[in-house]
Amino acid sequence: MTQKFTLNVNGKTHTVDADPDMPLLYALRDDIGLNNPKFGCGLAQCGACTVHMDGQAIRSCITPVSSVGDAKVVTLAGLGTPDKPHPLQTAYVEEQVPQCGYCINGWIMTAAAVLKKNPKASDAELRDALAGLKCRCGTHVSILRAIKRAQQSMA
Ligand code: FES
Ligand code: FES
Repeated sequence: MTQKFTLNVNGKTHTVDADPDMPLLYALRDDIGLNNPKFGCGLAQCGACTVHMDGQAIRSCITPVSSVGDAKVVTLAGLGTPDKPHPLQTAYVEEQVPQCGYCINGWIMTAAAVLKKNPKASDAELRDALAGLKCRCGTHVSILRAIKRAQQSMA
């Protein structure tokens, strides 16, 4: 049985009619039309679906829409815009990180949450925070280079 849920996403209010157990990822992609978060594994194993919920990086594929409540959800589209990109978005372009691009949402959203909490995160702390993310194209070295570049530009 579906219910109505009011979600605050990227500063706007959206009402979705959904089964309470439906993943937030489906509401974002299918009901709200925000397709930066990707469906990768659906099991919290790859990070492609990462969004921020009240500033925490969470896996939206295993987050029931009924658990979101009043939390503020931010997706990659809410992190920055083409006119005013987040430093991580700029750095990813400058370092030409993406190959297929499928994983990029997860890396940027996870790194953005880490750097917000700990702008001076060491290389080891960054690696720890990013450890659960997967890139099947093998761009890990350039991902780390872009994150370091962004970190320096934010200092
Ligand atoms: S799709 Fe959510 S962690 Fe893989
Ligand atoms: S760029 Fe293709 S999976 Fe990461």
